[in-house]
Amino acid sequence: MHPWVAILGLLLLPDGVTAYPQVTGVAGQNVTLPCYYNGEVTKMCWGRGACPWSHCGTNIIWTDGYRVTYQSDGRYQLNGNIPRRDVSLTINNAAVSDTGLYCCRIEMRRRINDIKTTLELRVNPGELVFLLL
Ligand SMILES: *[C@@H]1O[C@H](CO)[C@@H](O)[C@H](O)[C@H]1NC(C)=O
Repeated sequence: MHPWVAILGLLLLPDGVTAYPQVTGVAGQNVTLPCYYNGEVTKMCWGRGACPWSHCGTNIIWTDGYRVTYQSDGRYQLNGNIPRRDVSLTINNAAVSDTGLYCCRIEMRRRINDIKTTLELRVNPGELVFLLL
């Protein structure tokens, strides 16, 4: 691909689109950030912020591959089937302040690099706010 094609692609991106997959939620509702993996069942963590070089940044939740072993707040839940490698994060009663980047990190014992996925969550104000405007 010619460099100018890539530049044109960047110019055509709509506002607010970043390099990260986006998830949109509504304040007061539950919102789920999807994360799955393949292969051996293994430890994983969720953190706030883009995935750092190691670990999960500000820790939200840890699993040992089968169950949650650490949970920073009861609003954060893994409602998927953890041993079946569905480690999607549900945030109960989402708030506008939950907007930001989240890291899903799967620890890979037999690989040099862990599987890191950064997602961007945007929580929009609920309808009640619009009624009050
Ligand atoms: C959010 O999840 C909680 C617990 O799983 C549930 O009790 C509640 O009804 C859900 N809220 C909504 C708005 O779906």
